[in-house]
Order: sequence, then C-alpha cells, then structure tokens
Amino acid sequence: MPSSPLLFFLLLLCFFCTQLSCTETEVQALLAWRSSLKDPGCLTQSWTSNNISTDPCQWDGIECNEAGSIITVSIFDCQIDGTLDKFNFSSFPNLTGLEMGLTENLHGGIPKEIGTLHNLQYLHLQMNNLVGEIPVTISNLSNLEHLDLSYNHLTGAIPSAILNMSGLHSLDLDYNNLTGQIPRTIGNMFNLEELSLNDNYINGAIPREIEHLNKLTRLYLYENELSGQIPLEIGNMTELQIADLSENKLQGNIPATIAQLPNLSELYLENNQLNGTVPPYLGNNSNLEWIMLSNNDFIGTFPPLLCRSGKLKYLWATKNSFNSLLPITLKNCSSLISLYLSDNNIRADVSQTFGEHPNLSIINLSENRFYGRLPSNWGKNIMILSLQGNEISGQIPVGFLNMTHILGVLKLADNRLRGDIPKELANSTSLVILNLSNNNFSSLPLIQAPTLQSLHVSNNKLTGEFPLLQKNWSNLVTLDIGNNNFYGEIPSWIGSSFPVLKILRLGSNQFEGYIPPQLSMLNNLRLLDFSNNNLKGPIPHVLSHMHSMAVKTITNKSYIDFDFNFTVDKESIGFMWKGVEATYQETITLLIGIDLSCNAFSGEIPEDLMKLQGLISLNLSRNHLSGMIPHNIGNLTSLEVLDLSMNLLSGTIPPSLSHLTSLDTLNLSHNKLTGQIPSGSQLQTFNLSSFSDNDGLCGFPLPNNCLTHNNSIVPPVKNEAGYKKLEVIWIICSVILGYVTGFWVYFGALYWKISLRFAVFHFTDKMQDKMMKWCGRYLH
Ligand SMILES: *[C@@H]1O[C@H](CO)[C@@H](O)[C@H](O)[C@H]1NC(C)=O
Ligand SMILES: *[C@@H]1O[C@H](CO)[C@@H](O)[C@H](O)[C@H]1NC(C)=O
Ligand SMILES: *[C@@H]1O[C@H](CO)[C@@H](O)[C@H](O)[C@H]1NC(C)=O
Ligand SMILES: *[C@@H]1O[C@H](CO)[C@@H](O)[C@H](O)[C@H]1NC(C)=O
Ligand SMILES: *[C@@H]1O[C@H](CO)[C@@H](O)[C@H](O)[C@H]1NC(C)=O
Ligand SMILES: *[C@@H]1O[C@H](CO)[C@@H](O)[C@H](O)[C@H]1NC(C)=O
Ligand SMILES: *[C@@H]1O[C@H](CO)[C@@H](O)[C@H](O)[C@H]1NC(C)=O
Ligand SMILES: *[C@@H]1O[C@H](CO)[C@@H](O)[C@H](O)[C@H]1NC(C)=O
Ligand SMILES: *[C@@H]1O[C@H](CO)[C@@H](O)[C@H](O)[C@H]1NC(C)=O
Ligand SMILES: *[C@@H]1O[C@H](CO)[C@@H](O)[C@H](O)[C@H]1NC(C)=O
Ligand SMILES: *[C@@H]1O[C@H](CO)[C@@H](O)[C@H](O)[C@H]1NC(C)=O
Ligand SMILES: *[C@@H]1O[C@H](CO)[C@@H](O)[C@H](O)[C@H]1NC(C)=O
Repeated sequence: MPSSPLLFFLLLLCFFCTQLSCTETEVQALLAWRSSLKDPGCLTQSWTSNNISTDPCQWDGIECNEAGSIITVSIFDCQIDGTLDKFNFSSFPNLTGLEMGLTENLHGGIPKEIGTLHNLQYLHLQMNNLVGEIPVTISNLSNLEHLDLSYNHLTGAIPSAILNMSGLHSLDLDYNNLTGQIPRTIGNMFNLEELSLNDNYINGAIPREIEHLNKLTRLYLYENELSGQIPLEIGNMTELQIADLSENKLQGNIPATIAQLPNLSELYLENNQLNGTVPPYLGNNSNLEWIMLSNNDFIGTFPPLLCRSGKLKYLWATKNSFNSLLPITLKNCSSLISLYLSDNNIRADVSQTFGEHPNLSIINLSENRFYGRLPSNWGKNIMILSLQGNEISGQIPVGFLNMTHILGVLKLADNRLRGDIPKELANSTSLVILNLSNNNFSSLPLIQAPTLQSLHVSNNKLTGEFPLLQKNWSNLVTLDIGNNNFYGEIPSWIGSSFPVLKILRLGSNQFEGYIPPQLSMLNNLRLLDFSNNNLKGPIPHVLSHMHSMAVKTITNKSYIDFDFNFTVDKESIGFMWKGVEATYQETITLLIGIDLSCNAFSGEIPEDLMKLQGLISLNLSRNHLSGMIPHNIGNLTSLEVLDLSMNLLSGTIPPSLSHLTSLDTLNLSHNKLTGQIPSGSQLQTFNLSSFSDNDGLCGFPLPNNCLTHNNSIVPPVKNEAGYKKLEVIWIICSVILGYVTGFWVYFGALYWKISLRFAVFHFTDKMQDKMMKWCGRYLH
C-alpha cells in the first residue's frame, strides 16, 4: 500500500480523533489486519484508508463505546480470505465481542495473543477453516460467556484450562477434529447452559464432574468415541432439557437417576452399546418429547410412563431386544408423530396396545411378535405403516384405509392375514408401496392404484387368471405375484402396459401357454422370473431386446422401491452379498436375471439371448430345451449363476463358457452333452455335480477319462427300468431339492432381503413344496 495516502489519512484521522475520541491504535490495528487479507471481501468498501468521510465507528461490523473505543468487531457471513495472524489483539483492550463467523475463507490458527482480550464476553469463530489447537490462553478470557469455535478443523485435545472458565454460559466446539478426553475440569464451568462437543473424536468416559453443571440445559456429545458408562451424576443436571449422547461407544445401563430430570424433553441414546432395562420411571416427571434408543441392546419392558406428560412425539427404539410394551405406555399417547419399534422381540396384542394417534405419520412395528387383529382407527395422518414380520391374523378390516387418506407405504408381509385383499387398497390414490406377501390372502381385486410403484403379493393363496391390473400403469416398478395359484395365459398387454417395470415375478404359479413376444417391450426389466409354471414353446428370441438387461453396469440410480425416501430412520439398508456388505443401489444392479426354470420350454436356447450382457443369473433348468449351448455364451460376461440342468442339451460345452470368470454357480448336469469339459479353465473348479449325468461328457472334474471313449457311452436301458427310473428320479429330486434350496437362499436372499426383509426360509419351504409336487408328477 502506498504510504502517502495512508499518512494523509492518519493525519486527518488525528484531527478526527481529537473530536471523536476514537483511538488511533485501534484504527491502525484494524487497517493493518485488513491489508493482510488476501481478499477483504465485504470490507473493501467500508474499511479503507481512502474512505475518510466516515468515522471508523461507522465502519461495517464495528461498534464503539461512548468514548469512541471499539467494543465489538462483527464480521459475519461475509467473504474474506486471510488469517488472524496480523490481528493485533492487544490493541483492543475494550473489546467485548469478537465475531467472525461463516466467512468464506478465514484460515490458519487461532493466535495465542487472543488471550489478551480481557474484556471479551463472546468469541464466535464458527464455520471457518481454522486449524491447529485451541490456544490455552483462551482461558485468560475471564469475562468470556460464549465461546463458539464449531465447524472448523481444530485438532488436539480440549485444553483443561479452558474448561476452568466458570463464567462461560455456552461452549460450542462441535464439528472439529478434537481428540483426547473431556477434562474433569468441566465441573468448574458451573454457569454453563449449553455444551456442544459433538462430531469430534473425543474418547474416554463422560466425567462424573458434570454433576456440578446444574444450569446446563443442552448437552450435545453425539458422534464421538465416548466409552464407559453414563455417569449417575447426569441426574444432578436438573435443568437438562436436551441430552444427546448418541453415536458413541457407551456401555452398561441407563442410570435410573436420568428419570429424575424434571425438564428433560429430548433424550438421544441411539447407536451405542447400552444394555439392560430402561429405567421404569423414565418420563414420570419430565416432559419427554423425543426418545431415541435404537441400535442398543435394551431388554425388558418399555418404560410405562414415557408418555405421561402427554407430549411424546418421537419414539425410536428399533434394533433392541425389548420384549413387551404395555397398553398404558402408548394407548392414550395422542401426541405421537413417529414410532419406530422394529426389530425387537415385542410380544403384544396390536389391537390393544395402541389407540388413536391423530398426529401419527410413521409407524413401524416390523419384525416383532405382535399378534391380534389389525386396527382401523390409529390415526388419520399415517403415511407409512409397517407391521411386517409379526403374527397378526384375521382379515384386513373394512374401512382400514378410512383411517388415513395419505397412506403411502403399507407393509403387512409375513403375517397370518387371510381373506380378501380389500378393494379400497386396490384403488387407493396414495399407496406407493404395497407389500402383502407371505400371508394367506385368497383374492386380489382389480388393482388400479395409479400411484402404486411396488406391488408384492407373493406367497399367498391367490388364484384366478393373470390379475386384472390397470393397463398403462406408468409407475409400476415391481410386480411380484409369485407363489400363488394363478393360472391361464400370460397376457400380451403386459409388454406395453408397464413402461418402467423392473421386476416381474410370476414364478411358482400355474401359468400356461407361451411367453408373449411383446414382453420384450419391457425396456426397463431387470428381473424376469417365470419359473415353476407350465409354460411351453420356444424361448422367444426377442427377449434379447430387453434393453436394460443388455447393459452391463447400470448407473441409473432412480429406482425407488422400498422405503428409501420414506424412512427418516438411520437404519442402513446394507445387506450381505457374498460375504460383502453391499449397499442398496449396488444391489439393484446385481438383480439382473432371468429365471425360466421348471417349465416345459422346448427348442434351442436362442443365440440372441447372449446379447443380454448385463445378466447375472440365468436359469433355464428343468425344461425340454434341446440343441447346443450357444457358442457365444461367453458374451455373458457378468454371469454369476448359470443353470441349464435337466434339459436335453447336446453337443459340446462351448469353449467360450470358460471365459465367464465371474461365474460361481454352474449346473449343466442331466443333459446330453458330449465331449471334453474345456480344460485348463476355471470350469475345473466346479465340482462334479455341475456336469454329472451327461453321459457323453468327459474330463476333469468328471471321473471318466476322455481318451478311452470315442464310442457310444449311452448305457443300455435295463429291463427293470421302471424301478430304476424311479430310483434315479428320487435321487435327482433330492439333489435338485438341495440345490433349489441353496439357490433360492442365494437368489432369494439377493432379491428379498432388500425387498423388505422377506422371510427367505419360509419362502424356501414353499419352494420346496412346489418341487416336491413337481417331483411327485414325475414319480407317478
Ligand atoms: C465509505 O464507506 C461507506 C460506508 O461503508 C460507504 O457507503 C461508501 O461508499 C464508502 N465510500 C467510498 C468512497 O469508498
Ligand atoms: C477504553 O474505553 C474507555 C472508556 O470506556 C476509555 O477511557 C479508554 O481510553 C479506552 N481504551 C482504549 C485503549 O481505547
Ligand atoms: C500491537 O499493538 C500494540 C499496542 O496497541 C503495540 O505495542 C504492538 O507493537 C503492536 N504489535 C504489532 C505486532 O504490531
Ligand atoms: C494467560 O494464560 C497463560 C497460560 O494459561 C498464563 O501463563 C499467563 O500468565 C496468562 N496471562 C494473564 C495476563 O493472565
Ligand atoms: C478430520 O481429519 C480427517 C483426517 O484425519 C479429515 O479427513 C477430515 O476432513 C477432518 N475433519 C474436519 C472437520 O476437519
Ligand atoms: C482451575 O481452577 C482451579 C480453581 O478454580 C485451580 O485450582 C486450577 O489450577 C485451575 N486449573 C487449570 C488447569 O487452570
Ligand atoms: C448429586 O446428586 C446426589 C444424589 O441426589 C447428591 O447426593 C449429590 O450431593 C449431588 N451432587 C451435587 C454436586 O449436587
Ligand atoms: C451390559 O454390558 C456390560 C458391558 O458391556 C456387561 O458387563 C453386562 O454384563 C451387560 N449386562 C447385561 C444385562 O447384558
Ligand atoms: C369409510 O368411509 C366411507 C366414506 O368416507 C364410509 O361410507 C364408510 O362407512 C367408512 N367405512 C368404515 C368402516 O368406517
Ligand atoms: C374404491 O373402491 C371402493 C369400493 O369398491 C369405492 O367405494 C370407491 O369409490 C373407490 N374409490 C375410487 C377412488 O375409485
Ligand atoms: C426423494 O424425495 C426427494 C424430494 O421429495 C427427491 O428430490 C429425491 O429425488 C427422492 N429420492 C429418490 C431416491 O427418489
Ligand atoms: C459377442 O461379443 C462379440 C465381441 O464382444 C460381438 O462381436 C458379438 O456380436 C457378440 N455376440 C452377440 C450375440 O451378442
């Protein structure tokens, strides 16, 4: 900066000073700091030595006392780029407030000289890019009442000296990279009203000295690495309103003293390792509104007095081992807004435990042992209702949907419900996801819910022709009617009616006739399951037009089946895929598959099918397919599961099959294949049963040596064929049953686990029944 204007300015300033008593050193210090900034941003206009028309006390962000001495510097939400290194703190002995928050790029460390601001009452440096440790000298600021250094990149431990500042009312160090323990000196801050240390890496136990913080109203310690028990002394913080200790490694019980906190309204303890029973008097004399207990190891009964204040709004306690919930707890709790109790072991009558909850919008009781009948009066504002995986029986009551007109998700799968699926569900104008699988429903009405995206009714006792669905259903993503008793032909209009359909499961029914070629118009289909029906004819080669199966990696993540957009819970949707935790989106890409097994398809496997390079699973087993395995099968490079067993396939195994390096399940058994199993490839890593009962096949892993047999290998048909055949079929059937079970656990787990924690084993049982029937047909 050229010195002459500055000098001129200072001279003028002296003139000013005599009149306005502003102090020269303060102005000089401010200007010196300003000129150290790379970009003074919003200070450009006002803090300038050229701007002599105004008193510096009029500068943006500056406030003076009557004597003209600067008492606050407040640069907030203002773009500046620079450090505090050139800020001469000792020039501002009268400063009571220093505030530089949310600036674009205030970086560097906090200078230790900051400790000279003896009159400072508040220091707000939040939301910057400050680094380094918190200077111990801050503890010299004996008049400080509010210290906020949150949302920076500060490291190191919290200096125990600063927790000695008895005048402090609020201390916010959240969202930094602080480590070490909470110093026991925290007990000296007995004027503290708010303490935020969340989102750091603070470890060790919560010190018992918190018992002295009897003015504290808000305690935020979440997302740290705190361990040990919650100290009993938490009960001494009698003003406490919000306690968030979630996402730590806390162990042991919730101390009973917590129930003595008369003002407690929000208690967050989720995602810890807490155990034992929750203190029974919790809620007795407080105003609890939020209680988060999810993801711990709690047992026993829910504290019965939780809603005693009549203010309880959010109760989240998923993934624990609670086993009972008394009617007294929630039945009259009309304040409830969201209730998550899934994944516990709660045994209670669902029709007795709850009452009318006019504000309730989400209720998830899935995976418990609730029994009894479905209620019809829970609340008018329910958007998400999940009761799946319980023991609820009876019919869906008439007027069930009368209780809410905005229900978007209804999951009743895995219960003991029976009777008709009511028409009102079928023409709802709000439902997006409807899952009624695994019950005993016996009839399905005409479905014309225009908003529905996901319809699961598999594994019931539904019967009739292909269900009457509304045509031109532009939202339907999943249609799962597998494992029922539907019969008749598969209508050709399917192909043009569901432009976004991704999953079509008609397996294990009694459909017959041909696959309509129009099916190939389902451009978004990723899973096609027609297994276990009575379908016949050739496999239409136009199936190869199904565009989304031909794409290897799918980057489109717009699929919104399941409760992704509806859950506010922190529950993860991760699951195991080959021993690796996969995320939800990855799973969808894993879902690409065709299953036409166990039908009466004949003819050759169309070569065109090998264009579907995205296929991960292809199951054509147990049909009457003949001809050769397409030579270009090696094009299906994503394939992990290939089952062509129990057909009439002949010829040699195409060498390209050995290029399928992802393949981990292969079954070519029970065909008429001949020649040598391509050697020196990973085909040798499969065991014998992958190739067995192909009398012309030879080479490892089969026991027979290729060199010896150029001649016929078909064994003579024996006279006592009847009995022998029976025996062979029994063996085959038991092999298949073992295989089917394995396969469906594998494939089923993939499909169903994401789709609403379906009981795979139940499903498998059903599958086994069907197979037994199939085998029975052959045995008679
Ligand atoms: C001087 O500062 C005032 C107050 O910020 C501003 O309005 C004015 O435009 C500035 N004048 C000049 C010449 O920069
Ligand atoms: C601090 O303010 C007082 C008046 O409140 C004044 O007398 C004194 O000079 C100021 N100190 C400085 C260094 O400006
Ligand atoms: C800071 O200001 C004080 C007095 O206000 C002065 O003595 C000191 O030299 C200044 N320090 C720097 C580094 O400019
Ligand atoms: C400021 O704090 C430091 C370290 O805590 C201490 O050594 C120093 O004496 C203090 N200065 C004053 C003026 O209190
Ligand atoms: C904390 O440190 C880690 C690496 O140690 C870094 O990735 C992360 O961004 C830091 N967080 C903050 C808020 O500075
Ligand atoms: C904290 O304050 C107490 C007395 O109030 C004093 O004995 C102790 O030394 C101080 N500790 C630190 C680290 O400043
Ligand atoms: C904390 O509470 C316990 C039991 O109520 C009491 O004995 C103790 O004196 C209290 N501590 C303080 C510091 O008030
Ligand atoms: C609770 O956890 C602690 C420590 O992890 C353990 O010692 C104790 O046995 C557990 N108590 C119960 C009831 O499971
Ligand atoms: C459901 O609502 C309709 C009209 O809103 C009404 O006619 C019917 O009686 C109600 N059913 C039940 C069971 O409440
Ligand atoms: C839905 O079906 C019920 C019963 O058939 C009928 O009363 C109601 O009017 C239908 N609602 C719509 C929107 O079609
Ligand atoms: C969830 O909903 C929001 C807004 O309601 C929308 O922007 C977002 O795309 C949705 N997410 C998914 C995965 O559909
Ligand atoms: C198989 O892949 C090769 C090259 O990758 C390609 O030229 C051929 O057209 C593919 N065949 C089929 C049927 O997709």
